[in-house]
Amino acid sequence: MSTNRTFTMIKPDAVANGHIGAIINDITQAGFKIIALKYTKLTSETAGKFYEVHAERPFYKDLVSFMSLGPIVAAILERENAIEEFRKLIGATNPAEAAEGTIRKKYAKSIEANAVHGSDSDENAQIEGDFFFAENERF
Ligand code: CMP
Repeated sequence: MSTNRTFTMIKPDAVANGHIGAIINDITQAGFKIIALKYTKLTSETAGKFYEVHAERPFYKDLVSFMSLGPIVAAILERENAIEEFRKLIGATNPAEAAEGTIRKKYAKSIEANAVHGSDSDENAQIEGDFFFAENERF
């Protein structure tokens, strides 16, 4: 059974380019409620751990170094059918393939600097949310 929560990060490229406000606005306008929100920075160690599932992929090393370049915004979001609806809102991983009007189409530059992360399953949303947020940081 699917839950109604997902996890997102606004990545260092979108933060550096001044898109935090616009992206949060897109997310809330799409009907997502913010359950938890944090402005923070990953180290290469914490980024490596967060993306551990991709450790064997050829892009892993670059991904980890990119994700620890600057601050990010982490959030837990709630909406009916959250995983699928959020993935529709952000668009394809590669912004070149993302549909018009999606967050990645509007704010992303490349497959690595792709503006936002969105969980791909209920199980990963739980793991990723727990990575950043204690119980008393969720409302
Ligand atoms: P994200 O949804 O955060 O999950 C893993 C990330 O790896 C992905 O977004 C991309 O930013 C990044 N990445 C870099 N190169 C690739 C690639 N060739 N295929 C898939 N993901 C990639």
